[in-house]
Amino acid sequence: MNSQIDRILIDRDSIADRVEQLATRLVRDLGPAADKGSLVVIPIMTGSLFFTADLVRRLPLSFRIHPVMVSSYPGKSKTSQGILDQSPLPAGLEGRTVLIIDDILDSGRTLAHLRREILGVGAVDVRSCVLLRKEVERAAVVDCDYVGFDIPETFVVGYGLDYDGLFRNLPDIAVLQNT
Ligand code: IMP
Ligand code: MG
Repeated sequence: MNSQIDRILIDRDSIADRVEQLATRLVRDLGPAADKGSLVVIPIMTGSLFFTADLVRRLPLSFRIHPVMVSSYPGKSKTSQGILDQSPLPAGLEGRTVLIIDDILDSGRTLAHLRREILGVGAVDVRSCVLLRKEVERAAVVDCDYVGFDIPETFVVGYGLDYDGLFRNLPDIAVLQNT
């Protein structure tokens, strides 16, 4: 597996430090909603699996977690194809504060679409948190409230991010060869 890795872009210690900082901000900003029992966290699977696991364990707040599966990159594609498949949103989002967690903001289509859908079922406040944001011109204009790292336009894997379903289990974020 490691022979296909060109270089590490963000190592595990830097990820852990940044997750801690994001958690501090989230506790401050979303604490009041959690106190009212209104906070719901929606991780976008599968890419945000480890980011979500690390982040939510640093949030000493009361909330429910309802993952939504979204697939947008079929097989060996490295460019966004828009949303191909999505599992249903959880019921009962009306009146709620929702935090969407995703691995990476690329074209912005995934977040823009989910945000619209979640507001459409009556959520009152929808925030989004991504670990990575690519420095690209986005197809969909979308505000992201919490960003871990801005990265150049390159295809990355690891810490949940995949290429053709592989490399999610790398503990660091890495750039593949020939990308
Ligand atoms: P967007 O809808 O174009 O913003 O795409 C977001 C989704 O595409 C992310 O949730 C990832 O699953 C996937 N994606 C975008 N860039 C990368 C990358 O560099 N590596 C792995 N997956 C990526
Ligand atoms: Mg994803």
